Amino acid sequence: MAADPAILTEGISTGYGRHVVSQRLSLSVEKGSRTSLVGPNGSGKSTTLKTLARLLAPLAGAVYLNGQDINGLPTRQVARQMAILPQVHEVPAELTVVELVEQGRFPHVGALGMLRRQDDDAIEEAIRLTRLEEFVHRPIDTLSGGERQRAWMALALAQQTEILLLDEPTTFLDVGHQLDLLELVSSLNRDRRVTIVMVLHDLNHAARFSDRMIAMSGGDVVADGAPDEVLTPGLLRECFGVEAAVVADPKTGSPMCIPYAPIHSGSDGRELNE
Ligand SMILES: Nc1ncnc2c1ncn2[C@@H]1O[C@H](COP(=O)(O)OP(=O)(O)OP(=O)(O)O)[C@@H](O)[C@H]1O
Ligand SMILES: [Mg+2]
Repeated sequence: MAADPAILTEGISTGYGRHVVSQRLSLSVEKGSRTSLVGPNGSGKSTTLKTLARLLAPLAGAVYLNGQDINGLPTRQVARQMAILPQVHEVPAELTVVELVEQGRFPHVGALGMLRRQDDDAIEEAIRLTRLEEFVHRPIDTLSGGERQRAWMALALAQQTEILLLDEPTTFLDVGHQLDLLELVSSLNRDRRVTIVMVLHDLNHAARFSDRMIAMSGGDVVADGAPDEVLTPGLLRECFGVEAAVVADPKTGSPMCIPYAPIHSGSDGRELNE
């Protein structure tokens, strides 16, 4: 366990009303680390992230943000320390990119609610880092999927928090923009010591851009460690139901999986041309 964790949970339960997703979930996220949450659809990754971000209250137990129970903190105080890019976001009608990104400064503005010079600088930087300069005055609902995803990322960046939670940040992005975003996240971690927790479906990206991978299945943590400890053929078989090889990336040395085929148990494998 981290000595001075940015986020800590001890045996919490998560879920929605009577639908329990995880029980006895204990996580300790070290300050300045990069953690990826991986796992099959429905395994509880977004539920975990939303609970860490206080978008969802734990059904039992508490989440500690820098040592304080997050559910007892004022919203502005949480939003000054932690930003989240959710998996699903609603597009406010007619809002432009710059208007959306400005919202990231609301936790920081003074009593009069006016944006100040440092707020303008943070907004300008978030737009530049996500390469959205040409879109600033476009309504969000007129953007392509990838442009829209970057606008939401810019909103999270404008908050300038020490913790960034990202739920599938590369969804909708082409391969160039995927790498651009993951490099950006890593540079924020390296240069500003931002703590990163991200949900990624691309296991090779997770291995290359994280210090730690946490694999979830059925709401439980089934593997937790350095990428080369977690990304194994056994995990791919048991957690994802896929037969795969794991090799070392010839350039970076990080583990890289090559999925070959889904494993169908019994006779329920689907047949084509039935
Ligand atoms: N709002 C909700 N109300 C009730 N159940 C929900 C709700 N959101 C998710 N669930 C259920 O909780 C479980 C975990 O969902 P979650 O969204 O955490 O999965 P995930 O690992 O993020 O999956 P994906 O990779 O598809 O995003 C699933 O069984 C899902 O159907
Ligand atoms: Mg999800």
